[in-house]
Amino acid sequence: MQHELILILDFGSQYTQLIARRVREQGVYCEIAPFTVSTENILEKNPKGVILSGGPNSVYESDAPRIEPEFYEKINAPVLGICYGMQLLAKDLNGNVQPSAKREYGHAKLNIINDKAKLFQHLPKEFDVWMSHGDHVVSAPQGFEIVGLSDGAITAIENAERQIFGLQFHPEVAHTPLGKEIIKNFVFNICGCRGDWTSTSFIKEEIEKIRRTVGETGNVICGLSGGVDSTVAAVLVHEAIGNRQTCIFVNNGLLRADEFETTLELYKQNLHLNVRGVDASKDFYAVLKNVTEPETKRKNIGRKFIEVFEAEATRIGDVKYLVQGTLYPDVIESVSLRGASVTIKSHHNVGGLPEKMNLKLIEPLRELFKDEVRLIGRDLGIPNEILQRHPFPGPGMAVRILGVITEEKVKLLQSVNKIFDEEMKAFDVYDKVWQAFPVLLPIDTVGVMGDFRTYEKVVALRAITSTDGMTADWARLPFDFLQKVSSRITAEVRGVNRVVYDITSKPPGTIEWE
Ligand code: XMP
Repeated sequence: MQHELILILDFGSQYTQLIARRVREQGVYCEIAPFTVSTENILEKNPKGVILSGGPNSVYESDAPRIEPEFYEKINAPVLGICYGMQLLAKDLNGNVQPSAKREYGHAKLNIINDKAKLFQHLPKEFDVWMSHGDHVVSAPQGFEIVGLSDGAITAIENAERQIFGLQFHPEVAHTPLGKEIIKNFVFNICGCRGDWTSTSFIKEEIEKIRRTVGETGNVICGLSGGVDSTVAAVLVHEAIGNRQTCIFVNNGLLRADEFETTLELYKQNLHLNVRGVDASKDFYAVLKNVTEPETKRKNIGRKFIEVFEAEATRIGDVKYLVQGTLYPDVIESVSLRGASVTIKSHHNVGGLPEKMNLKLIEPLRELFKDEVRLIGRDLGIPNEILQRHPFPGPGMAVRILGVITEEKVKLLQSVNKIFDEEMKAFDVYDKVWQAFPVLLPIDTVGVMGDFRTYEKVVALRAITSTDGMTADWARLPFDFLQKVSSRITAEVRGVNRVVYDITSKPPGTIEWE
């Protein structure tokens, strides 16, 4: 089935993905394409509307990102330019854009000066918006009407006849509280979408698609990590082809306490997956022996994963496909300033295996954002315990034990992690942070316990807030909570006499310590 599509052209704004999520929240499918996409390609996609994103450039820079001039002539759907997108279309259509005396950043008041302005139907005449821009439109192009001002400056323009709209502010961010209504007006009233992108329709269509792709013969394997993405992907494929999919859940000896046993049980009993639990901890410890360098740890673990998978796949026989829980943010050809190279690595992406074994990929979640995956997981009956789980890196505790890894250190960190998790749940903190974990430092410090001097390990606690793991801030956790965790760790875990809290954001730090 062909869904209604809103196409977002990305000019490098940090908010581009947020625009996409706001559109999807309305039950309308949308895709992000780089600004370099040709008009011909855009027309082939037959979008119901096009949104030009913001971006860090100035339209007057010689190398500023542009669209083909014919875009404006040939596009047969409404267009909305946001921030840079508005400046670009204003300039391209012979309006006048000038640099502002200073960069405007933060809250502003928008005054609607035309009751008929289509983007602002059913909205008050004045409301708060969020600005972040250096240039501004000083005269609207011919045929355009100024429909919104902020402090006297042009902030919203519209050409009702050509269905082209421009907003200087960002409707997609939470700081523009009525932004959601503006997006709604655009996708429903202006573009005429009905909203045919729902969790139920997605599940139904995806199951059909997987059945068609896999065909009548051959097997499929899936690497489960215990996290949200691989679990949702596996359950979808199971709905489609049942036990012809074998899931492989590997114990690399670097999981959290009891995680292998409890997750395996959940996969088998609650989700009825055809799953093989492979305990390969000894093999993983062997390839980590005396290794201290973080990248070498990752590489050795990755290689071992592939070996374990290969051995299992050979045992199953006639394997044609590998299921992966790749998400939309990993496949967007974004021009965002982060660049393509810093995509988060995930262990369910069993890198190297597909080429080596000549496997084709099934990636049922590659059009989805994480919050959509959670909704679909919920509709597929996956327990909250998995859906709300914090992300956990493929190399597991290997990148949270600095220096040489031993089984003893893993056990110690598992005990600390258990306490941290228990208290986060007790203090109702777990769901408020994006990720939280302890790190075992490779140093001993002096302490005193009873009448005795101790010389033992230091544990660092890391808890962060984030929306995608690309940037993060350290979580302002309550002191009472930190106090409780610290005293429980030093009292209950032998070998730790000091607990510190990491107050580094990302950047400049990374979330993991290695
Ligand atoms: P960093 O440390 O790069 O982490 O700020 C960003 C997010 O990615 C996770 N992470 C990994 N996940 N394999 C994974 O599957 C890895 O090698 C890996 N390294 C980091 C990290 O936990 C955080 O969520």
